[in-house]
Amino acid sequence: AARGPLAGRRVVVTAGGTREPLDPVRYLGNRSSGKQGYAVAAVAAARGAEVVLVTTSGLPVPAGVRAVPVETALEMAAAVHAAGAEADVVVMAAAVADFRPAEVAAHKIKKTHAAAPGGTPDESAPVVALVRNPDILAGLVAARGASSSPLVVGFAAETGDEDGTVLEHGRAKLERKGCDVLVVNEVGPGKAFGTDVNTVHVLRRGSDGVLDVGPASKDAVAGAVWDVVGDLL
Ligand code: C5P
Repeated sequence: AARGPLAGRRVVVTAGGTREPLDPVRYLGNRSSGKQGYAVAAVAAARGAEVVLVTTSGLPVPAGVRAVPVETALEMAAAVHAAGAEADVVVMAAAVADFRPAEVAAHKIKKTHAAAPGGTPDESAPVVALVRNPDILAGLVAARGASSSPLVVGFAAETGDEDGTVLEHGRAKLERKGCDVLVVNEVGPGKAFGTDVNTVHVLRRGSDGVLDVGPASKDAVAGAVWDVVGDLL
C-alpha cells in the first residue's frame, strides 16, 4: 500500500486549458500549459494519494497517476463528476473555457462562404455565436450539498496587483464559488502560463489568513497547496 500523508486518499485533479471546437480543425483555446495541475497531481501521488488526472494537456503523465484525457469543458465536466463522486478532494487547476461555440461546423469553415447558385461569393467574416459552459467547480459544490466531501479546491488566475485587488478578487471568488480553498494565481506577461515558476496566494474559506507562496517552482506551489489541504482532511 502507498505511504505518505495522503495514503488512502482519493484525489481528482484537472489540468490544462479546454479546447472548444469550431469545426473539425479549429478550436477556441487558452494559454494554460497544464504544468501547475500536473505538479499538483505528481505531489499528491508522491504523498501516497490515489490520483486521477483529468487533462487536456499532452505532458508526460506523472508516476503513479491515472490520466483521463479530455478536450472540451463538457467532456471535463462528465469525467470530473464521474471520478469526483468517490473522491476525498477535487482540485480544479484546469483553465475551463467559460464559453463554447454554439454550433460545431461539420466541415472546415471556408474563407468564402457557399454562395447561392449563380450568386456572388460571400466574402464577409463569419460571426461565431457562443454559449456558456457549465461551471464544473460550482457544480461539484452544488452536488455535494450539505456534505463536506469532496473537498473542493479552485484556482483563480488574476492579473495586476498594483492596488492589492488580486486578493480582494480572490476572496470574493472563494465566497461566490463556495469552494474550500482557492489558490489565487498571479498571471500576466511572462507570469505563470507555460513557465516553471508561479506566485500564488492560498485562501481558505472561513479564515482571514493567506499563505503567500513564491515566486517558486510549480512543484513547491503544489506542495504548499497539499500542506493546506492535508490539514483540512
Ligand atoms: O471564475 P473563474 O473561472 O476564475 O474560476 C476559476 C476556477 O473555476 C478554476 O478552479 C477553474 O478550474 C474553475 N472553473 C470551472 N468551470 C468553469 C470555469 C472555471 O470549474 N466553467
